[in-house]
Amino acid sequence: MTTIAVLGAGKIGEALLSGLLSGGRKPEELLFTERYEVRAAELTKQYGLRAVDVPTAAAEAEVLVVAVKPQDIDPVLADLAPVVNDRNLVVSLCAGLPTSLYERKLPDSVPVVRVMPNTPMLVGKAMSVISPGKHAKPEHLDLVEELLSTVGEVIRLPEPQQDAVTALSGSGPAYFFYLVEAMIDAGILLGLPRNISEKLIIQSAVGAATMLAETGTHPVILREAVTSPAGTTIMAIRELEKHGVRAALLAAIEAARDRSQELGKAHED
Ligand SMILES: NC(=O)c1ccc[n+]([C@@H]2O[C@H](COP(=O)([O-])OP(=O)(O)OC[C@H]3O[C@@H](n4cnc5c(N)ncnc54)[C@H](OP(=O)(O)O)[C@@H]3O)[C@@H](O)[C@H]2O)c1
Repeated sequence: MTTIAVLGAGKIGEALLSGLLSGGRKPEELLFTERYEVRAAELTKQYGLRAVDVPTAAAEAEVLVVAVKPQDIDPVLADLAPVVNDRNLVVSLCAGLPTSLYERKLPDSVPVVRVMPNTPMLVGKAMSVISPGKHAKPEHLDLVEELLSTVGEVIRLPEPQQDAVTALSGSGPAYFFYLVEAMIDAGILLGLPRNISEKLIIQSAVGAATMLAETGTHPVILREAVTSPAGTTIMAIRELEKHGVRAALLAAIEAARDRSQELGKAHED
């Protein structure tokens, strides 16, 4: 039995706890820390999990998952430093925080794995990318992969690629929400009621995503299949190209990558 403690059970932390429970972990294998008693009591009531302080988490749990906002990391590291050792594995879900920050602030040889998850973790469809810090061994990565597989897909990449990952899959769901929002507005423009427009676009998004995921067919082939000569789709595509939508996406994702690099630099030596 591996005990896991989530430090900071907010949106992502709660999604992980709930996914681990659905994936078969027993409540006694899971602990969490929270700043506010009311929130802690709520989670205990809902999931039957024990709220603890950081020293208890480090003493009882092999895996410590840090899920606070990046700007709240300093007090968490200060609480952890006197109580963690190389029997613990620290797993960071915090966007932009390098493993070197943990390695600098925590005792030597504590293994750290960095993860970039995304919010579809809330519905068991996360895309999580994991990278080892300098003391993390293959068995640590195996354990993190096994844990995160209960809430979605997991791949391994070297840490320098995490800024690109943050820009693509970390922020990725927001781009799709933005596109869906704009397409629903287009339905309103064409005179459809909002609820009908929402239904048409959301079901089209779910259908398109399922085709991409389940058929493994390249998106270009899927798009060509619905783009008939002189038809309606090609007229829309011409407008998308004219308005530079492809170039806008390239520039947007590059800007997100740059911002992630900038946030990471704030935590360098
Ligand atoms: N949401 C995303 O799309 C996403 C995607 C990828 C990665 N992440 C990463 O996941 C992490 C969590 O994000 P989130 O959206 O879940 O944030 P969140 O909802 O604000 O959750 C953070 C939780 O940690 C608690 N907390 C803060 N300091 C604490 C401390 N010292 N001890 C115990 N608990 C503490 C917060 O309590 P209070 O409410 O009292 O502040 C809050 O409940 C972030 O680092 C983010 O970069 C998020």
